[in-house]
Amino acid sequence: MAKCEPSGPGPADSDAQDPGRLVLGLETSCDESAASVVAGGRRVLSSVVASQVKDHAPFGGVVPELASRRHLENLAPVVRAALAEAGVGLGDLSGLAVTQGPGLIGALLVGLSLAKALAWSRGLPIVGVSHLEGHLAALDLCEEPPDYPLVALLVSGGHTSIFLVEEPGRQRELGQTVDDAAGEAFDKVAKLYGLGYPGGVVIDRLAKSGDPQAIALPRPRLHDGTLDFSFSGLKTAVVYFRRDHQGEPYRMEDLCASFQEAVVEVLVKKTLAAAQEHGVGRLALAGGVAANQRLRQAMSQAARENGLRLTLPPLDLCTDNAAMIAAAGCLHLRWGERLPLEADAISRLPLGGMLPVEPGPAARG
Ligand code: KG4
Ligand code: ZN
Repeated sequence: MAKCEPSGPGPADSDAQDPGRLVLGLETSCDESAASVVAGGRRVLSSVVASQVKDHAPFGGVVPELASRRHLENLAPVVRAALAEAGVGLGDLSGLAVTQGPGLIGALLVGLSLAKALAWSRGLPIVGVSHLEGHLAALDLCEEPPDYPLVALLVSGGHTSIFLVEEPGRQRELGQTVDDAAGEAFDKVAKLYGLGYPGGVVIDRLAKSGDPQAIALPRPRLHDGTLDFSFSGLKTAVVYFRRDHQGEPYRMEDLCASFQEAVVEVLVKKTLAAAQEHGVGRLALAGGVAANQRLRQAMSQAARENGLRLTLPPLDLCTDNAAMIAAAGCLHLRWGERLPLEADAISRLPLGGMLPVEPGPAARG
């Protein structure tokens, strides 16, 4: 397994012409207001995340309108904190990167508007970044970045996909969920039992003292020969289990462990199948659900048994952050892409989850 810790502070690169020299990234696609300064696409000088978990917890999920309002309040102070922590001012930056989609439209617009205003007022180059590509770019912020090509499992609250990543910034989606994302299934099962929000973290914790074989649950699409996933049927199986066993004693820990095991088994086996199909010897995990302890353990074991190298990002690079957006943005800035000031947020990205390329003044290398 590749050792993977966030990189420490370091001096910014000196090439004054390099738009990726010192990038401020902004992320507001869901319920985290985040800003980060990254040098040379690799060194995280600061990464500040203001979580809204407490605001949404009473509702058992993210309330879009509330998320937008909180971003409006939080984002400017978060940007100031990120600049201060990095020890730089706006005048020192070489470029800006902002999540353009996918995500909650109102939430995305807050980040996009502030990023555009900063870029315009300072005459800085700016790029829009796909949130999914950001999650993949988090791999390059690890202490030991992976070699490419690799097969990445991207599992979050909104997405569950397998990508073949040829090199940083060049990826192809091999499969994805046809309905719920894995994180969404965690959150919905937790909500069903009133376990709290976000559900993934709670289920992860409870499952540690549960028996993963206690309750038989389906492994959806495990043997369908594709690299696609489906988790809504598994969630429904839990709904039926709850209904059919009302009044009967069973341990919540066992339910959590059994549900988690079903999700993890499908995720691990399909990721392995993708690596085998494409003759790739490296694996990586990305996205919020990649923080799941059982998934990390099962994927590590599968990689070991099959002679594959695995990159496991540290937990703060799995969940939403802006360092990953700055890292992905650095590549696109260097490729000469630019975000037109009239560009809109894109709530749902086309198949593959990547933004359409906006060619800039420099040719893409
Ligand atoms: O990547 P992320 O922070 O935001 C999105 O892009 O969606 O992922 C959030 C998702 C939530 O569904 C949350 O329940 C899940 O990641 N999650 C976990 C764990 N930590 C966060 N799921 C399972 N186990 C965890 N430890
Ligand atoms: Zn995310």
